[in-house]
Amino acid sequence: MDNLIEDIGIIDNSKKNLDTGEIRVSKNEKTEGKRKLYIESYGCQMNFADSEIVTSIMKDNDFTTTSEFKDADVILLNTCSIREKAEQTIRKRLTDFNKIKARNPNKIVGVLGCMAERLKTQLLEEEKIVDLVAGPDAYRDLPSLINQVDDGEKAVNTFLSREETYADISPVRLNSNGVTAFISITRGCNNMCSFCVVPFTRGRERSRDPHSIVAEAKDLFIKGYREVTLLGQNVDSYSWEDESNISSSVNFAKLLILVANINPELRVRFSTSHPKDITNEVLYAIKEHKNICNAIHLPAQSGNSRILELMNRTYDREWYIERIDSIRKILGEECGLSSDMITGFCSETETEHKDTLSLMEYVQYDYLYMFYYSERPGTLAAKKLEDDVSLTIKKRRLSELISKQQELSLKRNQLNIGKIHKVLVEGHSKKSVKDMQGRNSANKVVVFANNNNFKKGQYVDVLVNACTPATLIGEAINKSI
Ligand code: SAH
Ligand code: SF4
Ligand code: F3S
Repeated sequence: MDNLIEDIGIIDNSKKNLDTGEIRVSKNEKTEGKRKLYIESYGCQMNFADSEIVTSIMKDNDFTTTSEFKDADVILLNTCSIREKAEQTIRKRLTDFNKIKARNPNKIVGVLGCMAERLKTQLLEEEKIVDLVAGPDAYRDLPSLINQVDDGEKAVNTFLSREETYADISPVRLNSNGVTAFISITRGCNNMCSFCVVPFTRGRERSRDPHSIVAEAKDLFIKGYREVTLLGQNVDSYSWEDESNISSSVNFAKLLILVANINPELRVRFSTSHPKDITNEVLYAIKEHKNICNAIHLPAQSGNSRILELMNRTYDREWYIERIDSIRKILGEECGLSSDMITGFCSETETEHKDTLSLMEYVQYDYLYMFYYSERPGTLAAKKLEDDVSLTIKKRRLSELISKQQELSLKRNQLNIGKIHKVLVEGHSKKSVKDMQGRNSANKVVVFANNNNFKKGQYVDVLVNACTPATLIGEAINKSI
């Protein structure tokens, strides 16, 4: 955690942010003489969702998975470029894998995802630390890229598509709890936030066919899943038009309702919402459908209008506050609110930094993901603005945000004491097998004693009687629904 705090301040237990910095690996499986794949994922939930697509493609091509990289024939790293530190972590990991490869030259080491896209042939041709490079839109090509490596050729595909959504590929759920799953609804991003590398690594925004989204959610429900999170860099700009029938166009609010209508016992969450695009229609869809969760991740990035303009976020402080006021008016005080903030962006003054703290105070966030600014090559900010706030100041401002959020998270959680929450059970609590844990609609983690043989995937009513800044603690009072 100390390591994380240095770069990222996470006051959260929600796992719902697009950028958690977690690492997950695939599970062990029966081998039956097939070649073995080991895949490790970094970065945001969209990358984790992509690893499930990659695994599906590889399994269809006679691969099996392993959780031991030492046993693997093919090692794939699905990478992130969002901050310099993310890339440093991956380089270190690649060095470790290369040591193993030196002893086993037949092993294939490949790089996927955003760092593959950003650096293109560099890791293969100049640095010579990988055998294969595949960008986010090139995963269907992986089996033939592996064949190329087998034939002693260079294997690179970083072509970015305007159409690819992998809509027809049924993801293989990795490390799943069997209750909650992610579904990608858009790929890429059409915004140009000046600090952000994503438009360069993920390409233009595309929306996925709503029929395939609903089919995937239905299939998950039949398999026992009880919560889906719809994923996109900007879910509010989701847009699908059936060319043969213009009246059947689907926007994000309509998509939410289509998924919510599958079954009232299927919870629907979504991430990430963009302050310029989130509409009241979306807020009313949440209000009118009990199974659309009352939680919104609405990254502000800064509380100061001049900085927001330099960031090219296309809204100002007043606009953001108006959106928050509408959320509170339509969805009430209990709506869970979270955000991302960056400290020490180019030319940020002390007063402008204080505007971020005052916005936090105004909104009263439940969770906050905090980062200090890391210049990314090729972005608008790298080209046009000077990265002139010192690392010491960036880090000090970050730690001020972290302590402020500790205070706010505790305050927000205390408001829940004495109230009954409907909790979807996700499994045992991390600290004790005698306790269960799940989330309420507002995305807060709730821990309670397992006094009634409760099982994963069940809804339980929990009376909250204590809390920490990260968790609500209570007792189950009956089994709901
Ligand atoms: N699409 C999402 C963000 C995805 S990236 C949105 O628009 O909100 C996740 C978060 O990483 C961003 O919200 C931002 O807070 C942070 N981030 C992105 N680029 C960064 C950079 N260059 N330095 C520091 N933090 C950055
Ligand atoms: Fe990056 Fe902005 Fe797109 Fe989010 S909306 S992915 S921050 S460019
Ligand atoms: Fe996600 Fe990192 Fe790429 S946050 S979109 S994996 S740069």
